[in-house]
Amino acid sequence: MRAIVVHPPKPGAELSDVPAPPVGPGEVGVQVLECGVCGTDHDIVGGKYGRPPAGSPYLILGHENLGRVRSVGPGVIGFAPGDLVVATVRRGCGRCRFCRTNRSDFCETGLFTERGIGGAHGYMAEEYVDVPEYLIRIPPLLASVAVLLEPLSVVEKAIFQGQRVLDRKEPTPGEPKTATPSALVAGTGAIGMLAAFVLTVRGYRVMAIDRHGEETPAASLLRGIGATHANTAAGLGALEGARFDLVIEATGSVALDFTLIDRLNPNGVLVLTGIPDGGGPALPVAGGSLLRDVVLGNQAIVGSVNANRTYFESGLRDLTVFAERWPGATERMISARRPVEEFGEVLSGHVGGSIKTVLTLAPGGAASPAG
Ligand code: BGC
Repeated sequence: MRAIVVHPPKPGAELSDVPAPPVGPGEVGVQVLECGVCGTDHDIVGGKYGRPPAGSPYLILGHENLGRVRSVGPGVIGFAPGDLVVATVRRGCGRCRFCRTNRSDFCETGLFTERGIGGAHGYMAEEYVDVPEYLIRIPPLLASVAVLLEPLSVVEKAIFQGQRVLDRKEPTPGEPKTATPSALVAGTGAIGMLAAFVLTVRGYRVMAIDRHGEETPAASLLRGIGATHANTAAGLGALEGARFDLVIEATGSVALDFTLIDRLNPNGVLVLTGIPDGGGPALPVAGGSLLRDVVLGNQAIVGSVNANRTYFESGLRDLTVFAERWPGATERMISARRPVEEFGEVLSGHVGGSIKTVLTLAPGGAASPAG
């Protein structure tokens, strides 16, 4: 079968012929329809991240996925050929208490693998095989947006973590409800945009920032859902001192991360989701005054990575809510669908103005007919 393969830490990617995986007892064979491309994929192709499976000279790339069940092995219940599915990414170490309960997103040993990222083949191939435990069935009505479910799961987890910390200050019984909570989303890539959507649905007043004006697809989508957009290319001064209860960071910019601490309300939470470049330059930081405010303001800084199946399930519910509330808006986040043959351009940089670029592995991608 054809697959996009990489050889980390060697930069580059190629479309190769590799053996198709056999479908064994208890396993599901899935035809891949499409795969989203994200910053992690760019980092792997750039040679900065990623690891092939043990014993394999290459890694099949791709972790944001949508596919259709092609065959089921003996003993599989709950899945049948033709079902649309999205697979989760992380596979647990099998040793720690979290991985043993399918919550490998909190793995304590670090011995997990991630499909398409580290130690396990991904989904940019004509087919993959997995067990039902890691497959989320997708209602056909959500086919056109389901490739966003994996990044949405990451957002669902991040917001849930932040909310859990904010819940420390829930009013005591009998107290009036506090004012509408406010949220700042830093970055308007797919993670930032999905965060703005989820937070708006959860009742937050949402502002999203990036380094662009009002003419981008992201700014227009934000207006459409009632969120505010600000261009902070010249710094966070553009926020005119505004502070927020929950800040979701989705850029991976270390310098920005530190300045965002300053944007927190008392008792506020900053959740970091962007993965910073570990080898970046050291930064001068006014650590004393920053951390003084964190302590005196009961503030919290939380890192959040990956997502277990429960967040894919809540993401699926939110995709339905988005579709009812803002028809067509989620689709507009997928600004480009390109055939897999165009992987070179898509993986080597960003397709101009795109919030999420998707590679189609089957002709027509999500719209390809069941066969
Ligand atoms: C993926 C996560 C993964 C993380 C770190 C992200 O791009 O969406 O599933 O845990 O990268 O490898």
